[in-house]
Amino acid sequence: MNILILGSGGRECTLAWKLAQSNKTENLFIAPGNAGTSAYGKNLSLNPNDFETVKKEVLQHQIQMVIVGPEDPLVNGIHDFFLLDDLLKNIPVIGPQKYAAQLEGSKEFAKEFMYRHNIPTAKYESFTAETLEKGYLFLESLDAPYVLKADGLAAGKGVLILNDLQEAKDELKEMLTNKKFGDASTKVVIEEFLDGIEMSTFVLTDGENYVILPNAKDYKRIGEGDKGLNTGGMGAISPVPFADTKFLNKVEERIVKPTINGFKKDHISYVGFVFIGLIKVNNEPLVIEYNVRMGDPETEVVIPRIKSDLVDLFIATAEKKLDKFKLEIDTRSATTVMLVSGGYPEAYEKNKEITGLNAVENSIVFHAGTTLKENRIVSSGGRVLAITSFGNNFKEALAQSYLNIEKIHFDQMNFRRDIGFDL
Ligand code: AMP
Ligand code: GLY
Repeated sequence: MNILILGSGGRECTLAWKLAQSNKTENLFIAPGNAGTSAYGKNLSLNPNDFETVKKEVLQHQIQMVIVGPEDPLVNGIHDFFLLDDLLKNIPVIGPQKYAAQLEGSKEFAKEFMYRHNIPTAKYESFTAETLEKGYLFLESLDAPYVLKADGLAAGKGVLILNDLQEAKDELKEMLTNKKFGDASTKVVIEEFLDGIEMSTFVLTDGENYVILPNAKDYKRIGEGDKGLNTGGMGAISPVPFADTKFLNKVEERIVKPTINGFKKDHISYVGFVFIGLIKVNNEPLVIEYNVRMGDPETEVVIPRIKSDLVDLFIATAEKKLDKFKLEIDTRSATTVMLVSGGYPEAYEKNKEITGLNAVENSIVFHAGTTLKENRIVSSGGRVLAITSFGNNFKEALAQSYLNIEKIHFDQMNFRRDIGFDL
């Protein structure tokens, strides 16, 4: 089978690594990919949001399945584009259609979905510039800290958590009337603050049936001890040690099943990943957010723990046969540590030569922001490499990642030395 992965990060590199291991994969393409993905398939230089160019390449390379890595092509309707095109409509796309992608593209849509299907989540109300005064009153009715969320996609920056009521009111006004996050903050969701520990559940659904993939916890802040600015993610661990069977049963019964049943009740045909960001409060799971794709860097620990053939898994998804699929999981722990450019998530320099990758042993190097330049591998993004390892527990796995990181070098390389510190 000829398969196309859309995207260019560590998530897509991991998917390429795994798909390339299947004897069902004939030709693998990654668009646009990175220096790492070119080891597993052919990179195609295109923008995944340019659907006409995607179509041209799909037809030229006789692609038979498309896996969508990031959220924006989904939110922009790439799956719908395929379904509406006579030449593309029979090619399966792993990733939901535009309407369902609002689960990630609109915080209000996601909250309404959770309320409608009795899925536990923080209480909320949403406001626009016209209802700013009501927003102030709602803030006054809550206790600190105050959680303000831009409704739309804001590249992971649209959530503010504030301790001071006046500051929360000022920020609400900034978001609604001065468009602090552009069109994404035309509407703002204000939520009750939940105090607990976060983790993520990953589900793959064919619209009727689902399989639950390994769970994971990521580390979003740039600084050790979870301090400093938010990043795309600095490391991840799977499985999550505090998620015992009893807790995971609650997650499945109260959250996963009502979510999949919710799609059916709402007549949403959802084919793809559902990434459920959870928070554990007094041993009870609540949903913080939905994403309509896999997480990054969670993919770098979740996918390596799947022993089953990933092409078979995606075919079962496309054919609505996930109920017959027996998912095999590696019981070991997997961890990943992200190597990032100095200065990230603020301004950083690119084009730094990366050395030492050939010396890595017993870890897997997934490329995130890299490119080939005159046969040298150089950095091309904020998150550069993810170093994934296995172990009998997460500490053993982490020790292995850190051992190999010692061998890798690029100018101003930065990483967190405390992944898993809170577990
Ligand atoms: P989101 O984009 O909705 O995932 O929010 C980003 C981050 O803000 C989450 O990963 C949480 O750490 C935090 N957060 C969001 N909503 C809440 C909430 N209601 N209570 C506490 N923390 C929250
Ligand atoms: N690591 C969080 C995300 O992918 O959204």
